[in-house]
Amino acid sequence: MSNENKAKSWIYPSIRTISIIFLTIIIVVIIQNIIINVKTDKLLLSNKMNIKDDKFIDDTIALRSAIKQMNKQRISRTNSTFNYQNKTFETIIQCVGPLYNQSCLYKNLYYVNKTFMILAVKGRQLPNYSVRTNAFSLYDKTIKKREFKSYPDLEKFVLNLIDLKRVPSVTLYFGQLWHQNIGHALFDGLYPAYVALIRFSPRHLQPFRILTEIRNCKDCWSEDVYSRFSGLGIMKIAVLDEMSKQKWFLFDEIIMGSGKLCQRCVQSNLQLPGGVELDASRLFRDRMYQQHGLIQSTIRKNSSSEHRKSSDILQAYIIHNKRFTTNDRIEINDTMNELNNYTNFYLNKTIKKRKWPLIHVTYLHYNKIQGQDPNSFRINATPIDSRSPIYELIDNNFMTQLRTVRQMDIHITGPGTGQMYQTFLSDGSVTINVGGLKSKNKFTSYMEQHMTSGTPYIKGLYYPINKRSKGIKKDELIKLIRQAGQLILQGFSLPVNPRENLALDGQLFVEMCEKDKKFCSLVTDRSPNNTFACVDFWPEDFVHEHNQWKKGGYIRNGRRVTCPFNRSLFYELREKYGIKYKDPVD
Ligand SMILES: *[C@@H]1O[C@H](CO)[C@@H](O)[C@H](O)[C@H]1NC(C)=O
Ligand SMILES: *[C@@H]1O[C@H](CO)[C@@H](O)[C@H](O)[C@H]1NC(C)=O
Ligand SMILES: *[C@@H]1O[C@H](CO)[C@@H](O)[C@H](O)[C@H]1NC(C)=O
Ligand SMILES: *[C@@H]1O[C@H](CO)[C@@H](O)[C@H](O)[C@H]1NC(C)=O
Ligand SMILES: *[C@@H]1O[C@H](CO)[C@@H](O)[C@H](O)[C@H]1NC(C)=O
Ligand SMILES: *[C@@H]1O[C@H](CO)[C@@H](O)[C@H](O)[C@H]1NC(C)=O
Ligand SMILES: *[C@@H]1O[C@H](CO)[C@@H](O)[C@H](O)[C@H]1NC(C)=O
Ligand SMILES: *[C@@H]1O[C@H](CO)[C@@H](O)[C@H](O)[C@H]1NC(C)=O
Ligand SMILES: *[C@@H]1O[C@H](CO)[C@@H](O)[C@H](O)[C@H]1NC(C)=O
Ligand SMILES: *[C@@H]1O[C@H](CO)[C@@H](O)[C@H](O)[C@H]1NC(C)=O
Ligand SMILES: *[C@@H]1O[C@H](CO)[C@@H](O)[C@H](O)[C@H]1NC(C)=O
Repeated sequence: MSNENKAKSWIYPSIRTISIIFLTIIIVVIIQNIIINVKTDKLLLSNKMNIKDDKFIDDTIALRSAIKQMNKQRISRTNSTFNYQNKTFETIIQCVGPLYNQSCLYKNLYYVNKTFMILAVKGRQLPNYSVRTNAFSLYDKTIKKREFKSYPDLEKFVLNLIDLKRVPSVTLYFGQLWHQNIGHALFDGLYPAYVALIRFSPRHLQPFRILTEIRNCKDCWSEDVYSRFSGLGIMKIAVLDEMSKQKWFLFDEIIMGSGKLCQRCVQSNLQLPGGVELDASRLFRDRMYQQHGLIQSTIRKNSSSEHRKSSDILQAYIIHNKRFTTNDRIEINDTMNELNNYTNFYLNKTIKKRKWPLIHVTYLHYNKIQGQDPNSFRINATPIDSRSPIYELIDNNFMTQLRTVRQMDIHITGPGTGQMYQTFLSDGSVTINVGGLKSKNKFTSYMEQHMTSGTPYIKGLYYPINKRSKGIKKDELIKLIRQAGQLILQGFSLPVNPRENLALDGQLFVEMCEKDKKFCSLVTDRSPNNTFACVDFWPEDFVHEHNQWKKGGYIRNGRRVTCPFNRSLFYELREKYGIKYKDPVD
């Protein structure tokens, strides 16, 4: 071994030793630091909170560090959507559902000069993106397309639009007529659009924005419902039109295609579209409560009797209806007096033996339910507030209405707008449709039975179809309300069979639709080549051969309107369901 090598072997071990010593020192310093940190953490915490319990302090520190750790992980795992490194500017389209009632998700959809615009590279295969966006239009929405020779051309075009403004997150688009009426606003606009959103799960569980085509209206409070329900608020197409005259907008994600999912879009099974099929009624109800600051109502999975005792007093509400006659009101009043007296009587007695469930009945005018008065609070608002500072804290009229609906066990209402809140009832409640009388020959009309059949967590009962023309009678109504009470407490199975939630004329329609396919497509097909009078279908008109269902049809606006169907089959079914025909007087 040369001297040089000896020197090396002397030097090398010493470098190794030095590094070991150095590393040891570093480790010791780190450990000391940790100990000091924990100690000061403890000291700080115990001083601050004046707590002497060591175990509690250790737990608190452990929890804090776990949260810190979790946040770190979350931040590193989240894929950032903020960076444009791999962002394409081309429009990407995905459509879900049969072509007839499909909904489409458009990523990077543009809006300019009052119109939607797809930017695509020439030759790119796009699905058929034709969608219906308005419940009361018989035409699909046309979306313009602009093609580019290559992607770099497209990108150059977009990047040169210096004024381009991006609208982030998910936007849900629909057109809406008559939004001054809460029934139409909720179930011909918002609900169907929400069904379209459910098709692109999990977006329906997240905040989104609504872009809607509605008329200018100063006091349509449904707009506030839209805004709160969505979470990111409402944008009106008329405003976007004005803003887009000289400017391009880029929507990150926009979903359309709800116009054939409306409550007035008759389905062959006479159900609210998507209500059962996509569990949309429940999802809609639960989001409505959540977004309006109410906690969820009692969950009942298999039976209406879950979380109930036979001694419970059931809450029944009769919803005021413009169709009630003076006599109806007297019979209803007598019904309430008798049922409430019975309940009071047994409430004060210790005897447990009684024939009927205890039911308390209330008569309800929705428009008399008032929320908190925003002017009753002393709040310092400033011009910079983008909305009222109490927006998320106050209970408005609609929220107060929802609070009432949530506690109903038995919901009693006539047809029309009064039917439109039944979706918000709790699991295992009953809705009684007392019907109304239609046309000069006064046949029974239940109207929105599809709302009931499309809501599988409630049970529907109907005022007897052949007795209703004599007006509402106390004995009949008492019988129905008591039957509802018994069903609830004995426990009816959930989910309810949708067909059993229909009245007899509704059940007749479903069977007719199964057996006469031509008729079925005539009343369910909302295509431009179809007659609107035929899709404007109500089971009561049909079973009583009213207007367009008369033999030979009828004259409307100087034109004969007919909707043909297999009459002999129809007569057989009317016999089978025991529906008495009222001879038309007109
Ligand atoms: C991030 O993106 C990757 C690839 O697109 C995906 O596999 C992953 O699930 C995403 N992570 C999150 C947290 O979304
Ligand atoms: C960018 O996107 C394309 C297509 O969406 C994908 O194939 C590619 O892997 C992505 N690149 C990166 C770096 O994420
Ligand atoms: C907007 O569209 C109209 C016709 O629809 C057209 O006359 C006008 O030039 C367009 N404006 C711009 C800025 O493209
Ligand atoms: C797309 O589907 C609609 C029916 O929803 C149809 O009217 C239209 O012709 C189809 N377009 C193409 C290009 O196939
Ligand atoms: C869409 O239409 C088909 C019939 O074409 C129907 O079976 C389906 O239930 C509809 N979807 C929804 C969500 O209503
Ligand atoms: C409901 O029924 C299912 C299946 O029959 C059962 O697994 C579940 O435990 C039941 N739930 C309740 C709350 O009774
Ligand atoms: C309803 O009954 C109550 C008695 O409980 C009576 O005071 C009231 O006048 C009645 N109202 C009508 C409209 O008959
Ligand atoms: C109230 O109910 C009790 C018990 O059913 C009955 O005896 C009494 O006659 C009722 N009173 C009225 C005013 O209906
Ligand atoms: C039962 O008690 C309530 C008060 O607790 C009273 O208002 C009601 O009149 C009583 N009913 C009867 C039938 O005694
Ligand atoms: C409407 O036209 C389409 C195709 O043009 C057809 O498939 C459909 O059956 C027609 N509907 C009615 C009710 O005639
Ligand atoms: C109409 O229905 C009857 C059954 O009631 C059936 O025998 C008959 O073939 C049907 N007619 C047509 C044209 O389908």
